[in-house]
Amino acid sequence: MAGLIIKQTPSVIFLLVSFWVQVESDYSQYATPEPKTSTGDGNHLPVVETIHFSGSSRPKPITVNITKVTKIVLSCNLTLLIAHKSPITGMWEKDGNKIDKREFDFDQNTSHLFQNYEFDFQNGSDAGNYTCVFDTNPKSEGRFEVQIPPIWTKNINEIRSDGDHINLTCKSDRYTPLYWIWSKEVKGSKVTLNNETGDRYYIHSLGNKSSLLIKSLIMDNTTYYHCDAVYEVGFSGLRIHLKVNSLVAAVIPFVCIVAEVLVLVIFILVCERKMKQKENLAEGEKIPEKLTIDELPDVTENGARHRKVESTSVQEMQN
Ligand SMILES: *[C@@H]1O[C@H](CO)[C@@H](O)[C@H](O)[C@H]1NC(C)=O
Ligand SMILES: *[C@@H]1O[C@H](CO)[C@@H](O)[C@H](O)[C@H]1NC(C)=O
Ligand SMILES: *[C@@H]1O[C@H](CO)[C@@H](O)[C@H](O)[C@H]1NC(C)=O
Ligand SMILES: *[C@@H]1O[C@H](CO)[C@@H](O)[C@H](O)[C@H]1NC(C)=O
Ligand SMILES: *[C@@H]1O[C@H](CO)[C@@H](O)[C@H](O)[C@H]1NC(C)=O
Ligand SMILES: *[C@@H]1O[C@H](CO)[C@@H](O)[C@H](O)[C@H]1NC(C)=O
Ligand SMILES: *[C@@H]1O[C@H](CO)[C@@H](O)[C@H](O)[C@H]1NC(C)=O
Ligand SMILES: *[C@@H]1O[C@H](CO)[C@@H](O)[C@H](O)[C@H]1NC(C)=O
Ligand SMILES: *[C@@H]1O[C@H](CO)[C@@H](O)[C@H](O)[C@H]1NC(C)=O
Repeated sequence: MAGLIIKQTPSVIFLLVSFWVQVESDYSQYATPEPKTSTGDGNHLPVVETIHFSGSSRPKPITVNITKVTKIVLSCNLTLLIAHKSPITGMWEKDGNKIDKREFDFDQNTSHLFQNYEFDFQNGSDAGNYTCVFDTNPKSEGRFEVQIPPIWTKNINEIRSDGDHINLTCKSDRYTPLYWIWSKEVKGSKVTLNNETGDRYYIHSLGNKSSLLIKSLIMDNTTYYHCDAVYEVGFSGLRIHLKVNSLVAAVIPFVCIVAEVLVLVIFILVCERKMKQKENLAEGEKIPEKLTIDELPDVTENGARHRKVESTSVQEMQN
C-alpha cells in the first residue's frame, strides 16, 4: 500500500498572505516605557504570517515589517501534488542556518504539510530571512524576510559645490519612528548632529520624514551622512554620500571654454589684421599716396577731358 497517492491536479499555485491578529495580554512585559506610536494599552499583538504553496514551487517571499517588540508566528502550508514517503522532515532556517528541526507525519487525507515557527522579535538581531524547508524531492521552501522597515531618500549620492546649501531628507513611509537621528562620519565613527552642533545644521523631523539642512557647504565637508529612524526594536538607517566640489573645480570647465573662445577670437583677429595689412601693402604698391596727391591737378584736367569726351559722344549719339 503506497503511502500516499494524490492526483496530479493542475498546479494551481496560490500564494495567500493571511494576516490576523489576536489579543495576547501577557505581552505587556516587553513593552518599553514610552512607545510614542503605541496603539493603546501597550499590549503587542502577535504578527502571524502564512505562506501557502504547493508542489515544489518557489513562492514569492513575504516581507514582514516589525517596529515593536512582538511575538511572530510564521507558518508554511504546503500542498503536496505528488506522492511522498512519510514521514517528511521539516525545518526552519534563519539566514541559511538551521534554527529548528523536527520530523512530522502529515495528514495523508488532506495532503497538506504544515509547520510554523514562533519567536519574539526583540531587536535588530532578530531580523533576517526565515525559511521553512520541507524535505520533499525536490525540496520545498518558503521564505519570510523579517525586517525593521527600511527608509529611503531621493539620492544616496549628492554632489554640491562650495558654498551651496543642501537639504537631505529621509522618509520612512507609513512607519513613523519614535525619533530620527542624523549623524556624520568622522574618522569612521558616527557623530550625532543636532541644531546645536554647529550653526550650519538644521534638523527638522516630523513623523515619517526628517531633513537635515546644511547651509553653506565647505569643500572639507565631503563625507558620509547617516539618517536613522529609531523604533522600539532598533533602527533603520541610510548612509548618504555628500561630495562637495570646490568652487574652482566647478568653474574650471567654464573657464576652459571661455579661455578657448578667447584664444580663438584673438587668433582670428590677428589673422584678419595680418591679411588687411597685406592687402594694404599690395594696394599701396599700385597707387602710392604721394603720387595721388602730386597728380591732383592732373586729375581735374583728366576730369575735364573726360567731360569733353562725354559731351562729344553724347552729341554723336544724338546725331
Ligand atoms: C493549509 O491550507 C489548506 C488550504 O490550502 C487548509 O485547508 C488547511 O487547513 C491548512 N492547514 C493548516 C494547518 O492551516
Ligand atoms: C482519512 O480518511 C479516511 C476515510 O476517507 C478516514 O477513515 C481516516 O480516519 C482519515 N484519516 C485522518 C487522519 O483523518
Ligand atoms: C537582542 O536581544 C537578545 C535577546 O533576545 C540579546 O541577547 C541581544 O544582546 C540583543 N542585542 C542587542 C543588539 O540589543
Ligand atoms: C534576505 O534575502 C534578501 C534577498 O535574497 C537579501 O537581499 C537580504 O540581504 C537577506 N537578508 C539577510 C539578513 O540575509
Ligand atoms: C515594509 O516596509 C517597506 C518600506 O516601508 C515597504 O516598501 C513594504 O511594502 C512593507 N511591506 C509590508 C508587507 O508592509
Ligand atoms: C527639505 O526638503 C523637504 C522635502 O523635500 C521639505 O519638506 C523641507 O521643508 C525642506 N527643508 C528645508 C529647510 O528647506
Ligand atoms: C507619512 O504619514 C502620513 C500619515 O501619517 C501619510 O499621509 C503620508 O503618506 C506618509 N508619508 C509617506 C512618504 O508615506
Ligand atoms: C532645528 O531648527 C529648525 C529651524 O529653526 C527647527 O524647525 C527644528 O525644529 C529644530 N530641531 C530641533 C530638533 O530642535
Ligand atoms: C565643515 O568643515 C569645516 C572645517 O573642517 C568646519 O568648520 C565646519 O563646521 C564643517 N561644516 C559642516 C557643515 O560639516
